Amino acid sequence: MKDDDSLIPIPGRPPSPGMSHWHEHPDEVLCICHGITARAVIDAIRAGKLTTTQEVLVACLAGEACGACKPDIIVLIEDIERESGLAGE
Ligand code: FES
Repeated sequence: MKDDDSLIPIPGRPPSPGMSHWHEHPDEVLCICHGITARAVIDAIRAGKLTTTQEVLVACLAGEACGACKPDIIVLIEDIERESGLAGE
């Protein structure tokens, strides 16, 4: 797990729904502060081969404000890394 400092629970925010949720609902807003959809975050991670929430922040601003979406971003990064690893086998 990366960026452990960003995993502090935010009161009132549900737990991270996980990758399958975002794949099924890619047009849902993942980063509420900036209105950024899961699809935009997934595309940024894949296009830039991003591996940290800081890189995602620079690429598309997700996670730049309250940080409540960072656990979801980490889930996406890890699942895309896993997906990429499987593709290379
Ligand atoms: S929900 Fe993404 S920074 Fe607040």
